[in-house]
Amino acid sequence: MSDPERIFLSPPHMSGRERDLVGEVFDSNFIAPAGPMITRFENEFCALTGHKSAAALSSGTGAMDIALRMLGVTTGDEVWVANLTFIGGVSPILYRGAVPRFLDVAANTWTLDPDLLKDELGKADKEGRLPKVVIPVDLYGQSCDLDRIVTTCDAYDIPVVVDAAESVGARYKDRHAGKGARMAVYSFNGNKIITTAGGGMLASDDEELIARARYLSQQARQPVPHYEHTETGYNYRMPSLCAAVGVGQLEVLAERVARRREIFDTYAQAFADLEGVDMMPEADYGTANRWLSVLTLDPETVAKSPMEVIAAAEKNNIECRPVWKPMHEQPVFNTAAHGATSVSDRLFATGLCLPSGSSMRAVDQERVIRQIISTLTA
Ligand SMILES: Cc1ncc(COP(=O)(O)O)c(C=O)c1O
Repeated sequence: MSDPERIFLSPPHMSGRERDLVGEVFDSNFIAPAGPMITRFENEFCALTGHKSAAALSSGTGAMDIALRMLGVTTGDEVWVANLTFIGGVSPILYRGAVPRFLDVAANTWTLDPDLLKDELGKADKEGRLPKVVIPVDLYGQSCDLDRIVTTCDAYDIPVVVDAAESVGARYKDRHAGKGARMAVYSFNGNKIITTAGGGMLASDDEELIARARYLSQQARQPVPHYEHTETGYNYRMPSLCAAVGVGQLEVLAERVARRREIFDTYAQAFADLEGVDMMPEADYGTANRWLSVLTLDPETVAKSPMEVIAAAEKNNIECRPVWKPMHEQPVFNTAAHGATSVSDRLFATGLCLPSGSSMRAVDQERVIRQIISTLTA
């Protein structure tokens, strides 16, 4: 018997319109990181998220790099960041020669703990070692408690750049996730809720800042014909072809969020009677996009570990993953400072990410559910 068809964790989901839009770029011959399709993507992204301005870039990682550069982060500065995250939002701290400090997440949101942040900033202030920037992360499509974080940081005049790479389409209170920070970084990597193949967006209500980001992303070229540079920049602009895919994907974002939320709810119902199996909580201040459906397995009551479940699923061609490995556990950051890590540690040890793609058919999700239940009850 042939292997059952592979069920991926979070594959791209095209609407079909993207092809036409890419065709428009071919027709205009703007096969470059310049042209009207990029402006259109930026404008439509702003219309959807409420940000005043946005720069389409080649990745979320690049967007964070430029954000930290514009905030003057430099050698030896501390930058504080949520411990439970993917490295893409953290590496740029090192690109700047700065020093990361990892802060634990709250158990009820899995995002940066605002109470812990307040305590830690109070201590750091007394000791004269305040961070230059604070980076909360919207984990798995759930917004951090941004207003509380910004209010706390404002008291010390510390800018907040939210790593909203995973939260395109998510809501915080009555607005889009990420709006309200000094800057927000989004990702359109191939595994995200909508994709441009690869790409990112740096967004803000500060239009001058975003204009500077665009300039830095195109080699910091002075507006003269003879290629003059007064500072170094980057080659980080999003190509037009990718922006065309993004315009098509934005059109279906609401549907993609609704479908991911439906997938999450279907898992929640299917596993409701399994003792020790808990779905990722949803914060009462927002609506997550449920980019990934994630659950935890309580080791006191569940005999199998996430790694065992992942291995069993893999044998049946189903892709599951552990929760992000916390940053303080990463060999590359082994000298970085951190305080308590108990929530991140527990979520890494017990968390399991399930196939969550919006194109997943009901029969595929039933296969995943059968697989998980049979492993957990064996
Ligand atoms: C939390 C987080 N931060 C940053 C990134 C980096 O984004 P990109 O892959 O577009 O560089 C990602 C995703 O890839 C992410 O999930």
